Amino acid sequence: MEINKVELKPATRFVAPTGTYLISCGEEGDNIITVSAATLTCITPPMVGIAISLQRYSYSLIKDIGEFVLNVPDVSLLKAVDQCGMLSGKDIDKFDTTGLTPVKSSVVKPPMIAECPINIECRVRHRIELGSHDWFIAEIIAVKVREDFVSKDGKLNAHLLKPIVTIFGKYLSVGSKLVEHGHSQHTK
Ligand SMILES: Cc1cc2nc3c(=O)[nH]c(=O)nc-3n(C[C@H](O)[C@H](O)[C@H](O)COP(=O)(O)O)c2cc1C
Repeated sequence: MEINKVELKPATRFVAPTGTYLISCGEEGDNIITVSAATLTCITPPMVGIAISLQRYSYSLIKDIGEFVLNVPDVSLLKAVDQCGMLSGKDIDKFDTTGLTPVKSSVVKPPMIAECPINIECRVRHRIELGSHDWFIAEIIAVKVREDFVSKDGKLNAHLLKPIVTIFGKYLSVGSKLVEHGHSQHTK
C-alpha cells in the first residue's frame, strides 16, 4: 500500500484534538488557567492529569495548595476561556476580567466556576517533573453537574454538553454523535 506522508518536527500539537478546560486554583486571591494538556489517568480511583508550565502564575498555586477544580466550560464561555489562556493572574484578577463567578467548592479550597456546567474537585496525589511542565496527577474527590444536564436516573445527558476542543491552535466545537462505544460488536 502506498502512503504519502510528510515527516515533521516532533511536537505535542499533533496530539489533537484535546479538551479545553478551566482550572480554578488558589485560595485567597484565586486564579483561573486554561489548559488543554489534561486527561483522565485512572478510573479507580478516579484520577485526572494536567500539565502546567513552571512559568505560569497558577503553577505555585496548584503546587502549594495541592488542590484545584477542573471546570468543563461550554462554547458559551469561549471568550472567558481565551482570556484565561492569554492573561496572567499575576497581572489581573481573572474572575473580575471574565465576569466568571467563584463559588465555594464542597471539599477543596479553590473555588469552582459557577458558569461551567461541570465542576470536578481534585486533590493532587503525584507531581512529576518533566521539563517545561510538571504533570499533576490528582484524585477526583467531588463532582458537581448542572441540574439540567443530569437525567432523573442520575446519568449525564452528555449530548447536551457543548464542549470546546483545541486542535492546532484553534478552538472547535464537537460535531454530531456517531455511534455508541462497542457498536462494532453488534454489526455484521
Ligand atoms: C487553549 C489553551 C490551552 C492551554 N493549555 C495549557 C496547558 O495545558 N498548560 C499550561 O501550562 N498552559 C496552557 N495554556 C497557557 C495558559 O493558559 C496561559 O499561559 C495563561 O495565561 C496562564 O495564566 P496564569 O499565569 O494566570 O497561570 C493554554 C492556553 C490556551 C489558550
